[in-house]
Amino acid sequence: MDKLFNRKKIILVIGGGISAYKSLDLIRLLKKQGCQIKVILTESGKKFVTPLSVASLCQNKVYENIFDSTREAEMDHISLSRWCDIILFAPATANSISKLASGRADDLASTVILASNKQVILAPAMNVRMWIHKSTQNNFNKLLDYGYVFVGPTTGEMACGEYGEGKMSSPEEIYEFIKNYFLNRDIVKDKNLKALVTAGPTKEYIDPVRFITNNSSGKQGYEIANSLAKSGIETTLISGPSKLKKPQNVNFIKVETAKQMYMETKKALPVDIAICAAAVTDFKPEKYEIYKIKKNDLNINFKRNPDILEFLSKNNSQRPKLVVGFAAETNNILKFAKEKKIKKHCDWIIVNDVSNPEIGFDSEYNAVTIIDDKNIEKISKNSKTNIANKIVRKIVNNFIQ
Ligand code: CTP
Repeated sequence: MDKLFNRKKIILVIGGGISAYKSLDLIRLLKKQGCQIKVILTESGKKFVTPLSVASLCQNKVYENIFDSTREAEMDHISLSRWCDIILFAPATANSISKLASGRADDLASTVILASNKQVILAPAMNVRMWIHKSTQNNFNKLLDYGYVFVGPTTGEMACGEYGEGKMSSPEEIYEFIKNYFLNRDIVKDKNLKALVTAGPTKEYIDPVRFITNNSSGKQGYEIANSLAKSGIETTLISGPSKLKKPQNVNFIKVETAKQMYMETKKALPVDIAICAAAVTDFKPEKYEIYKIKKNDLNINFKRNPDILEFLSKNNSQRPKLVVGFAAETNNILKFAKEKKIKKHCDWIIVNDVSNPEIGFDSEYNAVTIIDDKNIEKISKNSKTNIANKIVRKIVNNFIQ
């Protein structure tokens, strides 16, 4: 029995696909390690495996029907969705993926998943054409955006005789994936990691009605804070003026100016991880005029704002173990980013090309390159949520190795 799996609670949804039989093996593997499993068998799943065989293997009742009065009294769909540590959907068909992507709740499986606040892991299984179809790929991306994760599909010979990507991962692969998930989550929890994220623009007032700022939405930083918090890392988000909603489960501090952001950053120390995603306004007026400046009196001198990233990187007494900076560049992207990494003494620099209107500042999308001391890793155009999840996965890996 594996200590890591012992007493972990898993809801396994078995959908209607020829690979449903593999899920029976998966139940056996997980049970052997001490997991508690409750299975939801969809209507089409029942055409491939029987409730009786599932019940005998998981040694639990099988959940089939959303309108089952005895079951609802015993454990309704809400408590079922709260009971587990994770929900695993294997096989997840094109239809169920589409249903989840559109937020439908017309059977027990989709209702439990929609109502759940737990990690959902999907193991897709379908014909290659169905998998690569644009609508399935759009649904897949949507679900990634919602924070669902996928194991597989893999490439190989299919039940229908065709060859390609769409096969459900083997029970062993799914088992290893889940094990890895619990391993990462539990280690992160044990390490009590703390993170700090700066995000959004800052506003530097000239007089009571005028200020300088930039059009950063704050989205990338908010998504990173959200993803860190979801990974079990205690996260403080220090945000400049942004219209975005505060992410759940983060300590949220709203500021206006670079100076306030700097002061709040100092207060948030010590942390293990610092991510400076804010588009800090580099300079501010030397003097703030308490009365509105008349247009004929225009005479403004500027001075530099504190550099928060540089302060964190050079802070010998309380330097975070990992300091990550962002570089928004328009030309000579990699060269300038590498120079910025050296100049600011940070461990990683994440660079994006803000000259491309499809990504960056006010867009839902981004494409970045992460430069650390040894590697340059590209993350191609993706939603800012997915980019954040990938960055956070790299951060977590960095701490659990
Ligand atoms: N940064 C910061 N404090 C500042 C300015 C920038 O913490 N006062 C951080 C940003 O959050 C980002 C990184 O520094 O992580 C780089 O920001 P960027 O605006 O690209 O660089 P600059 O310092 O403005 O350098 P340059 O003007 O040469 O591009």
